[in-house]
Amino acid sequence: MSILITNIKELLQVRETNISKVSGTEMKYLPIIKNAYVLIKDDVIADFGSMNDCQNITVEQTIDATGKLVLPTWCDSHTHIVYAGNREQEFVDRINGLSYKEIASRGGGILNSAKTLQNTSEDDLYKQSVKRVNEVMQLGTGAIEIKSGYGLTIESELKMLRVIKRIKQNFPIKIKATFLGAHALPNKYKDNKKDYIDLIIKEMLPKIANEQLADYIDVFCEKGYFSLNDTDKILSAGKEYGLIPKIHVNQFNTFGGVALGVIHNALSVDHLEELNNDDIVALQGSNTMPVSLPSCSYFLSIPYTPARQIIDAGLPLALATDYNPGSTPSGNMNFVVSTACIKMKMTPEEAINAATINGAYAMGISDLFGSIAKGKKANLIITKKVPSYNYLPYAFGDINIDSVIINGKCV
Ligand code: NIG
Ligand code: FE
Repeated sequence: MSILITNIKELLQVRETNISKVSGTEMKYLPIIKNAYVLIKDDVIADFGSMNDCQNITVEQTIDATGKLVLPTWCDSHTHIVYAGNREQEFVDRINGLSYKEIASRGGGILNSAKTLQNTSEDDLYKQSVKRVNEVMQLGTGAIEIKSGYGLTIESELKMLRVIKRIKQNFPIKIKATFLGAHALPNKYKDNKKDYIDLIIKEMLPKIANEQLADYIDVFCEKGYFSLNDTDKILSAGKEYGLIPKIHVNQFNTFGGVALGVIHNALSVDHLEELNNDDIVALQGSNTMPVSLPSCSYFLSIPYTPARQIIDAGLPLALATDYNPGSTPSGNMNFVVSTACIKMKMTPEEAINAATINGAYAMGISDLFGSIAKGKKANLIITKKVPSYNYLPYAFGDINIDSVIINGKCV
């Protein structure tokens, strides 16, 4: 199948050399070609350039993109999109004055979602989850990371990871799987955290590795959840099985989780609503991508990641949704990009870089995703007619997407 997209008003994120991420001041630059074309052959970008250089070639389909922009699909490097049920009652409880932490300490929060998931069949969990996957694809997401962590028993963690594997097999979107057994301490282990960590390390990990169900290992490194010492142990064990660390850190407290992630050569450290200078220094010179989740800050009314501090220190930054039932019931990357501009003072160029090439880096896939380059996957967003790319984050509540191409096919 070949598709030629012609008369593109602006083709965004065009990279001649295959860079894996952009950092610091480089993030301010978003390379574009005005009045452009893109040629897709099967599932890859075969060619692109200015309309002036567009050869008269025969293709199976031509899409006229007059007045429209084309950009790579979003790379959402942090989600919990596989979950059962919802937590709208906790949402109302928070409106009425309870905090996220108070709800969790009453047995709500992650443990609430775990209980629901444990009582949901694998087929039902699959059905509930694919509905959301279809929705985020329509919203322009072409690659996504999905975590376990609402199972918290051997069977239910495996159930989640098997559902992720099934989605991977049945959907064109690129998927990376993360084992997050250390998301919360189940009630049964309330007074015996060591036994739960042993269960993760000695029982869950070998089974997950044996079935090749995960690429990454994650820990909720936070006061009241898993300490630095717990995190160190779990990440080390995961690495023994070939899983690469990616951790939840600094959502509510700063106590060295970022530096620990860097020591473990984590692919990313995610959340970072709280951040101090030691965290910045730890990240400098590392290969670890800081990831911000502005929809989570919005929904929980907690601070936003200090993006300016991070980027102005020469570091890269990626943006992701954190789609989950408790802190972020939304998988809309368009909203994430807007919110990053509006609330975190990222420029549109920085936000688009953070949600494409840097998101791809945080999933280890920037060789094939996250920019327009020859040979990369044909995963593209075609916008509606808009005045410029600044309009995308500006018109924050609008649906600016006309169509989405994944693996060379319209979805
Ligand atoms: O990334 N912070 C930890 N985990 C999820 C939310 C978990 C929940 O409330 O269900 C997050 O925000
Ligand atoms: Fe998360």
